[in-house]
Amino acid sequence: MGSRVLVTYATKYGATAEIAERIGQVLRQAGLDVEVLPAERVGNLLAYKAVVLGSAVYIGQWRKQAAAFLKANEKALAERPVWLFSSGPTGTGDPVELTQGWRIPKGLQPVADRIKPRDMAVFHGSANVEKMNFLEKWMLKNVKAPAGDFRDWEAITAWATAIADALK
Ligand SMILES: Cc1cc2nc3c(=O)[nH]c(=O)nc-3n(C[C@H](O)[C@H](O)[C@H](O)COP(=O)(O)O)c2cc1C
Repeated sequence: MGSRVLVTYATKYGATAEIAERIGQVLRQAGLDVEVLPAERVGNLLAYKAVVLGSAVYIGQWRKQAAAFLKANEKALAERPVWLFSSGPTGTGDPVELTQGWRIPKGLQPVADRIKPRDMAVFHGSANVEKMNFLEKWMLKNVKAPAGDFRDWEAITAWATAIADALK
């Protein structure tokens, strides 16, 4: 097993990529050797001793690149310390309450149970209407999710700091 830490993500409009970059930055500042990559660009996990995987949530689902990564690498992930995060709810309040209590989309829960992640976080996301198409704007209204950037950088930094502490 290698010595690097992989922070990997699936994004549509970039909000989740920026969360992954922030996590990577915190881990690097703690002296860890970190690589931040979109999920579809990761080969195998041999070079990595730990993995942080996150996805944007659309209509209750992870992006397909993150779901595919989780399923395809189940065995290697189960052998390493893993942290999972979702970048989802817009609006204020506890993000887990806003997702009606889930920490990962239900369909992925059995895979997550086998991998046994150290933690699964739900972070507030960012819905930028300027980037959205007509259908997405309509869907956002339909699920009563407000537009705007609700990312909680303090919560993200605190979560990454706990990961750094666990890996040092
Ligand atoms: C059409 C649409 C549907 C969404 N559905 C959900 C959802 O079901 N649950 C949720 O928590 N967030 C939902 N969101 C919010 C996004 O997940 C959030 O804005 C995320 O941070 C976007 O990440 P990205 O820029 O990396 O793609 C939705 C956003 C849009 C535009």
